[in-house]
Amino acid sequence: MSTEQETFEPNVVAFCCRHCAYSAADLAGGGRMTYPSSIKIVEMPCTGRANVLEILHAMEKGADGVAVAGCLPGTCHYIKGNTHARQRVDQVMELLKKIGLEDQRARMINISAAMGAQFVEEVTSFVEAIKELGPSPLSGETGNTRTGTES
Ligand code: FES
Repeated sequence: MSTEQETFEPNVVAFCCRHCAYSAADLAGGGRMTYPSSIKIVEMPCTGRANVLEILHAMEKGADGVAVAGCLPGTCHYIKGNTHARQRVDQVMELLKKIGLEDQRARMINISAAMGAQFVEEVTSFVEAIKELGPSPLSGETGNTRTGTES
């Protein structure tokens, strides 16, 4: 890893289902487990709510990586929300490849509310993967700064 990669602090967004990943993050926090502060958690009623445009919009607005974290397969409270989310993340990965970006900048995570330690492990591994990739060229294209200026 180069010095630039070592000092790079990525902006990472995690769209988290409130029934599982969001609760797992809470559990991790309650258990004093730590995960990278570069993760910005966005709570959702279900990952089925996350669509392709929202994921790409987060990237356009400065996210170097976007994770969608939903319930374990077969346990979505809205039956197929997490299945649809996985399909959308796959679509985003395809689109990223088509425009010449690394598809690893998008990731689907499946987790239960009781998996606080695994949540920490998953998001930490995602942040490390994004650090390896470096800043997303997409966030720079829109003129966004890395200080989080929103329009
Ligand atoms: Fe958790 Fe649908 S309710 S992913």
